[in-house]
Amino acid sequence: MNHPVVISGTGLFTPPHAVSNAELVSSFNAHVSLFNAEHAAAIASGELQPLQESSVDFILKASGIKSRFLMDRVGVLDPRRMCPSLPERDNDSLSVQAEMAVAAAREALANAGRTAADIDMVLVAASNMQRPYPALAIEVQGALGIQGFGFDLNVACSSATFGIQTAVNAIQSGQARAVLMVNPEICSAHLNFRDRDSHFIFGDACTAVVLEREDLAQARETFAVIGTKLVTTFSNNIRNNFGFLNRTAPTDQEKADKLFVQQGRKVFKEVCPMVAEHIGAHLTEHGIETTAVKRFWLHQANLSMNQLIARRLLGRDATETEAPVILDRYANTSSAGSIIAFHLHRADLEPGALGIISSFGAGYSVGSVILAKRG
Ligand code: COA
Repeated sequence: MNHPVVISGTGLFTPPHAVSNAELVSSFNAHVSLFNAEHAAAIASGELQPLQESSVDFILKASGIKSRFLMDRVGVLDPRRMCPSLPERDNDSLSVQAEMAVAAAREALANAGRTAADIDMVLVAASNMQRPYPALAIEVQGALGIQGFGFDLNVACSSATFGIQTAVNAIQSGQARAVLMVNPEICSAHLNFRDRDSHFIFGDACTAVVLEREDLAQARETFAVIGTKLVTTFSNNIRNNFGFLNRTAPTDQEKADKLFVQQGRKVFKEVCPMVAEHIGAHLTEHGIETTAVKRFWLHQANLSMNQLIARRLLGRDATETEAPVILDRYANTSSAGSIIAFHLHRADLEPGALGIISSFGAGYSVGSVILAKRG
């Protein structure tokens, strides 16, 4: 069996709380003042270096980010806490990531003209799962009343494209008629808001994608999956050491490496050429000229990164229509970013138009999905 596959629906959950760069910088700088005042004697004696302030201008220039949506802004903006406050829920309540996933999934299902009865497989693909088990995917499956099976997968910022390929394989082989793939990202919970180099990088969001057999699809607008291509190569330049073994280590359980850490410059230099080569090779494998691609739905981490990747591919700057930007409002939402771009920027494409979703990030990992718009 080799059933052709389409994306027939997408959904987006956006948290209710927006936080501007100015608000984030103000809280960061209040933390700096508090720290420097509390450690004034050690700083004066040269024992400690004073912390340096953050700046709105730097953030916009270095990243292109203006604002982000967070699951909780009060805890993040409190200079004595600088971490979202998300109360623990009892085991009988829907967990917070599942709640985001269900909201995005309902929109994707409606978009696809599908109900729970049409879905055979649920994937939760994200950078961080709030617990190891039971799998979030099974909780989402239960909450929506879906039969069949589900499991979680994590390839950091590339989780959605890896999830799409997993869904495509299951549909092509006849294991599933339709798959729901969701990306509930609470990046604010793994971000170190006290780290000047990265406190502005991430936001929270959840995306959902319905994929199904093309011959069964009923949605008016679908996107045929022409091909998927994934690659990984080990790197320590983006890393998070949080894990179940932390409590077994005799020391350092609270160290900053239990949150997101990165060598931003190295990531920039190493990942951009990798992504451009990956997309170029993928298009060549399918006999598609880069100039024939009408839209690049790229991972949304950094504006200059996306501009550089597009320039390498096209030999010129991409327009905002060709490579839509959502990171200005959403910041880096990890695996959800390229899917948000796809969700918000596809309606205007003509039938037959080609586009490519591409994610990239920790691992390193790169994924691409070539799509053709159906009528
Ligand atoms: N406010 C003001 N100045 C800051 C600052 C802040 N918040 N953070 C760093 N700076 C300063 C640094 O101290 C440094 O000063 P110096 O030149 O006097 O030493 C200068 O700004 C440049 O710092 P650098 O860390 O080299 O910035 P950058 O231009 O590389 O931008 C990133 C930082 C993170 C935005 C950028 O490297 C990036 O986006 N990399 C891509 C990786 C990524 O986004 N990964 C996410 C997972 S895919």
